[in-house]
Amino acid sequence: MDDIRNIVILTGAGISAESGLATFRGPDGLWEGHRVEDVCTPEALARDTALVHRFYDERRARLREVEPNAAHEALAALDAQWPGELLIVTQNVDDLHERAGARRLIHMHGGLCSALCAACGKAKPWADPLPPATVCDGCGRAALRPDIVFFGEMPYEMDRIDEALRRADLFVSVGTSGAVYPAAGFVQTARYAGARTIELNLEPSAGSFYFEESRMGPATELVPALVRELLA
Ligand code: APR
Repeated sequence: MDDIRNIVILTGAGISAESGLATFRGPDGLWEGHRVEDVCTPEALARDTALVHRFYDERRARLREVEPNAAHEALAALDAQWPGELLIVTQNVDDLHERAGARRLIHMHGGLCSALCAACGKAKPWADPLPPATVCDGCGRAALRPDIVFFGEMPYEMDRIDEALRRADLFVSVGTSGAVYPAAGFVQTARYAGARTIELNLEPSAGSFYFEESRMGPATELVPALVRELLA
């Protein structure tokens, strides 16, 4: 790993699984208990605002019961110590990366600990339940919604992510099924730009064959091991 300077790390629900947060797909996944169309689209928010807010209120409350695990901590240590460029891009809406201490971090699908004004676009930190029609203190409209990127909406900071992928010498994907674009396509962008690509996951993801190397196992073991290699 001597020739590596710029790193991009993509994380998904699998990195938070061992902290006790449910992943999306699979037998106990969040999408088994809910239809995506009922809780994670702009149409659902308009049609049944109370249901959508309640779904995210429950998940926000759950964050208080869980802690970052060894994988989040290892990435935070890498962030603190890596002298080159580094960007952690998470699809997760939990706050476990930042609670572990990660700073060079983008929440491309938004975050549970933020509320977004649908009228003026201002986002603000949010820790409590978010009742429908809560007033935005920026514009005064009753338009605060969960700051979650719903299906059909544009993920955050795509330009910055794309730029980092094109400069990367190493792209690592951790705990994501590779089922959702644009994140599922990051490996191709990075590889096309010349990056080495490594997947860390419990099982091969949908895009496993795009990676030069796949390491299978729990994130709390694989991530600290990779970080040790990088910092050695
Ligand atoms: N260690 C490593 N990988 C794990 C672990 C673990 N302990 N537990 C589960 N995984 C893997 C699973 O094998 C699966 O491949 O994590 C992956 C989780 O996949 P998903 O549930 O599909 O989560 P994710 O890829 O983050 O979903 C992407 O879909 O609906 C959306 O917006 C939502 O951001 C989410 C996006």
